[in-house]
Amino acid sequence: MSDTNHTSPVLLPVGTPSDQYCADCGSIWPETHASPQCAACGGLLVIRHAPPHDSGGAPLTGEALRYSFAQHCCARPLGHASGVWRFESLVMPSAGSTIVSWPEGNTALVQRNAIAQYVGVEALWCKHEGMNPTGSFKDRGMTVGTTQAVRVGATAVACASTGNTSASLAAYAAQAGLPALVFVPAGQVALGKLTQTLAYGARTLLVRGDFDDCLRLVRESARELGIYLLNSINPWRLEGQKTIVLEMLQQFGWDPPEWIVLPAGNLGNTAAFGKALREAHALGLITRVPRLAAVQAAGAAPFALSFAEHFRTRHRVQAETLATAIRIGDPASHDRAVQSIEFTNGYVLSVTDAEIVAAKRVIDAAGVGCEPASAASIAGARALVRDGIIKPGDRVVALLTGHVLKDPGILMRMHQDAEFPEAPANQPVEIDVSVGAVAAVLNADANQFPHALLP
Ligand code: F0G
Repeated sequence: MSDTNHTSPVLLPVGTPSDQYCADCGSIWPETHASPQCAACGGLLVIRHAPPHDSGGAPLTGEALRYSFAQHCCARPLGHASGVWRFESLVMPSAGSTIVSWPEGNTALVQRNAIAQYVGVEALWCKHEGMNPTGSFKDRGMTVGTTQAVRVGATAVACASTGNTSASLAAYAAQAGLPALVFVPAGQVALGKLTQTLAYGARTLLVRGDFDDCLRLVRESARELGIYLLNSINPWRLEGQKTIVLEMLQQFGWDPPEWIVLPAGNLGNTAAFGKALREAHALGLITRVPRLAAVQAAGAAPFALSFAEHFRTRHRVQAETLATAIRIGDPASHDRAVQSIEFTNGYVLSVTDAEIVAAKRVIDAAGVGCEPASAASIAGARALVRDGIIKPGDRVVALLTGHVLKDPGILMRMHQDAEFPEAPANQPVEIDVSVGAVAAVLNADANQFPHALLP
């Protein structure tokens, strides 16, 4: 089944309530319809909104909209201080007082010369989504998805996850007072994510299979057991994730960079980013559309394979990569991500695990840090500059999707176990309680501590 069979306008007529549209069969469901998938054919749904309007019913101009978002930026009332709910009129206009917000978003654009030099461009910003409450971008979608769960009267929520979605679901479900069930691939989830999920109280199932098996199982279980599904196939999750782009455009004064580079696994973000840009363009918020570059790990690159064949074939692979967050072989949002790449004249590529680790080293050593999957965006941007696709003068925003502490296991492998010999590890040194022992370490490390050398 393809979700490109039917076409739909980007925006509904002014004054129309938001709805959920099935791109597979063309069915239209009210926005508070409880099923996260099309109840007629099982296809994926797309949320459609009308443009925000003034009291006289006239659609707001791009300028008026930009002003309204600026007004909400530092506002105190419930929800609006969130980097997601500031854009409520483009995300879930009728949320009202049901909002379940941490709050989240309002993440920094980080500039570091060392990272820009590594990529090979003059101007590079990292949009660090690891600065969200549970340490990844998932919180932006989860605040909206959980709000929808409350609106439709869900009694329990569930997701399959490579770890970040489950940590986020667990936190938001706890806030909403909903029991949460998570399905993760046994032995394939980074320690920080698994422990967060347990801490926030989600019932955690370690499935003997990979993420793709977990997703199949949770979809079936949710349908048969009446649990509300909060994977990114749920269209409300994507509405929240759109705000990564909206907030970034606002930080750029609505003058977009030339490129947005992001790691790609299940392709929810790639889908959400394209939708955000289509809508921002249609609403007059921006007049020029930045290009999206989606970066996969070489061992989990079905979307990059499809792109290389002009999307003629949808590929599925047996995924393997040390970037466990994107260890996904059959991405659920393939079709809607294709639309994003086509709309933005975008690009899809893959990078090796060695390139990911090398990029992570640079990001970490700049004092910024990120989890391995996030470093794929920097590795990918570097490859695109090397191949002449990104020009050195282009302004580039690279998405860092998760916090450095999400995956302490890889840090131990990189630094303590020195498993990756191609670059110097930062091995901790155990010493006796004596200044002499400290001096001996500094003497052996004269490059880093030349001023501290003892005679
Ligand atoms: N980066 C991180 C840190 C992630 O956790 C994920 C996805 C991605 C990138 C890829 O984003 O799926 O929208 O293409 N993590 C999901 C999870 C699958 O279960 O936490 P995507």
